Amino acid sequence: MALIRGFIASSLDGRVADAAGGVEWLAPFRKVDPGYGAFIDLVGTVVMGRSTYDQIPSLGMGWPYAGKRGFVVTSRRGDPVQRGVRFWREGLPALVERLRDLDDGDAWVVGGAGLLAAFADQGALDRLSLLIAPVLLGEGTPLFPERSGAPRGLVLRGAASLAMGVVRLDYELPPLKSGRALGRGGAGAASRPPSPPDGAQA
Ligand SMILES: NC(=O)c1ccc[n+]([C@@H]2O[C@H](COP(=O)([O-])OP(=O)(O)OC[C@H]3O[C@@H](n4cnc5c(N)ncnc54)[C@H](OP(=O)(O)O)[C@@H]3O)[C@@H](O)[C@H]2O)c1
Repeated sequence: MALIRGFIASSLDGRVADAAGGVEWLAPFRKVDPGYGAFIDLVGTVVMGRSTYDQIPSLGMGWPYAGKRGFVVTSRRGDPVQRGVRFWREGLPALVERLRDLDDGDAWVVGGAGLLAAFADQGALDRLSLLIAPVLLGEGTPLFPERSGAPRGLVLRGAASLAMGVVRLDYELPPLKSGRALGRGGAGAASRPPSPPDGAQA
């Protein structure tokens, strides 16, 4: 069963995109190795929201995740041009079910932040690796949108200080306590203890 993972960069004040919705502020940090190679080796499938997908051409490249299956969550019609990439219009619960059934690697929810939070809110995000850059953006897209409901605890599994003041934090998200968890055995999953640390891996 595939784990569902997040691996996302944030400013120190918790923004994943600037006020214009861009990520140019991350450019100076591209030379920092955040352990992406080891992470992507775990991944067989990438998932992203339509806005993140639509930004790909502006990066001047084709599908940046060669050899990985892709799902783009959207309500809009049409089909992507890349082979192995599919627009997903059937809602998150069905997507989680589909991802859990995969046996060729884990699934990476690339973003944006709202999509990542939607997975987390449904108990369908197992691991979260955060790359925190020492920048205060002041405004922009928050990593975690405001939400209501009970506080949610995460388990810190790793912390690393990287070059240029970047910090990597690896968290495990324990199953939700309520019965609304998706794809990990539902309510029954709530009684399962967190899995043991997975070392340096995300
Ligand atoms: N810092 C980082 O590491 C990082 C990583 C990834 C992305 N980003 C940045 O984040 C920004 C984009 O994030 P975003 O949150 O604005 O947009 P997004 O999640 O990429 O895309 C939003 C769109 O995706 C679809 N969608 C997302 N969540 C959905 C859900 N739960 N159910 C159904 N459809 C859903 C909808 O498409 P439809 O409108 O077609 O229905 C929605 O309009 C970009 O600037 C990108 O560069 C940063």
